[in-house]
Amino acid sequence: MSQYAVEMENISMIFNKTIVANKDINFKVKKNEIHALVGENGAGKSTLMSILFGIYEPTTGSIKINNKLEAISNPIKASKLGIGMVHQHFKLVDIFPLWKNIALGAEELIAKTIVNSKKIKEEITAIMKKYNLNVDLDQSAGNASVGAQQRTEILKILYRDADILVFDEPTAVLTPQEIDGLLEVMKELQAAGKTIIFITHKMAEIWKVANSATVIRKGTVIDTFEISKTTPEKLAEAMVGRKIVEVKNEYKPTLTETVLKMKNVSVRKSNNHKILGLKNFSLEIKAGEVVAIAGVEGNGQQEIVNAITGLSKIEKGQILVSDEDVSKSSIYDRYNKFKIRHIPEDRHKHGLVLDSTLLENMVLQDISNSKFNKMGILNFAAIQTYGQKILLKFDVRNAQSGFAISRQLSGGNQQKAIVGRELTAESQLIVIFQPTRGLDVGSIEFIHSQILNAKNEGKAILLISYELSEVMSLADRIVVVNSGEMVGEIEAKGAKKEDIGRMMLGKES
Ligand SMILES: Nc1ncnc2c1ncn2[C@@H]1O[C@H](COP(=O)(O)OP(=O)(O)OP(=O)(O)O)[C@@H](O)[C@H]1O
Ligand SMILES: [Mg+2]
Repeated sequence: MSQYAVEMENISMIFNKTIVANKDINFKVKKNEIHALVGENGAGKSTLMSILFGIYEPTTGSIKINNKLEAISNPIKASKLGIGMVHQHFKLVDIFPLWKNIALGAEELIAKTIVNSKKIKEEITAIMKKYNLNVDLDQSAGNASVGAQQRTEILKILYRDADILVFDEPTAVLTPQEIDGLLEVMKELQAAGKTIIFITHKMAEIWKVANSATVIRKGTVIDTFEISKTTPEKLAEAMVGRKIVEVKNEYKPTLTETVLKMKNVSVRKSNNHKILGLKNFSLEIKAGEVVAIAGVEGNGQQEIVNAITGLSKIEKGQILVSDEDVSKSSIYDRYNKFKIRHIPEDRHKHGLVLDSTLLENMVLQDISNSKFNKMGILNFAAIQTYGQKILLKFDVRNAQSGFAISRQLSGGNQQKAIVGRELTAESQLIVIFQPTRGLDVGSIEFIHSQILNAKNEGKAILLISYELSEVMSLADRIVVVNSGEMVGEIEAKGAKKEDIGRMMLGKES
């Protein structure tokens, strides 16, 4: 019997005859191991796994599953071979309950016609118990939290009895608390005999669960490492081809004028309008100051962002930007008149028009600016020059001079494009929500330095991040929220992680 569950040999993938996403890749995964697949944004990880899962047919190469040559022509074939994939961006039907999403396409039928919902739910419940992987089966996918949606995606492949599980950046969308839970689930799956391929950018996660790691860069394999025989620094260096330096706020003093003033603001919860998600919240940010909101997800962060950017109406209170009341202003005015910019949490929902080109996306909110538009006639040359400059500076890979359709970009490169757009546009206040989600270590370093540049240029910055390390590296001041209320505030200089952690959980510090 072969020791390998997966052997991908000489795989190349060329899109549109020009974009080389994978080049002569040899990738082998031993049975029952957790094998990390790592590399920069756009290195070709998702593409390689999409080939394994039968979504793309490779330009060249062959695949053996359990030592047998297989033509994996579509995902149904992949499922039959015991391969399951949890995608980087989820693929659930919003209006269906979770159990229906899990069983979709593999439903147990009574007399070949009626879906046997009782039996299906029983079977799923048994799987949930076995792996400690719980969701509310009757909740609709659209109302489920990101964590629950992801557990649903995992249940979906376990329901189909997958033996080889591919996780494409599963932790990028989770909170630190949820990540620990998922890593435990992965270990339990391994203990039950499954083989796992795990894509992630986080060294700490690899060291917690993986046995080995393969690094790809610009479509080719650099090396495969045994985790017990290497270090996080070495692996990170193999990924980006250089040493990584952590960026840190130097605490240059802020300017005197106050840019943002939130006075006793209350907002209804974004996913449940019956209750308040933000209560009597007040906050001031000065020019040249980075204020970070720390807290466990769902404690008012989304409501703060929605109130400032205009995505939600406020119930009570007032929001001032440079002393002008924006509380009732349109989203358009907040961008164009009051110069508020926004890096949204959900890059697909609020960040990009996925079927438009990158260049169009680079001027999305500024299309009526006289720089790009004279009495309704677009100045394409100006848009092109402006957009290309951003894409170059923020190292958006395979942008094809901006003419690439945004959907075709890798997830991390889509994120870099959004961050580039928002940091480049003229602004006085930038609201930044989870800016480095899904970015590789080199890109995180770069984005962090750009955020600090914006501070040094005198912009007021509100940073919301669930990653305490990100908060600690960038903030001048840290505000802690719990249950929609401010529970504490602390100067970042000299602050300790443990103190903030304690405040986040609502305990007295
Ligand atoms: N359908 C497609 N059409 C054209 N180009 C594509 C397509 N899918 C991916 N690419 C290109 O192939 C390259 C590799 O993309 P891929 O999504 O595999 O990267 P990745 O390693 O998963 O990156 P990330 O960490 O950002 O998710 C990217 O530069 C991307 O632009
Ligand atoms: Mg990817």
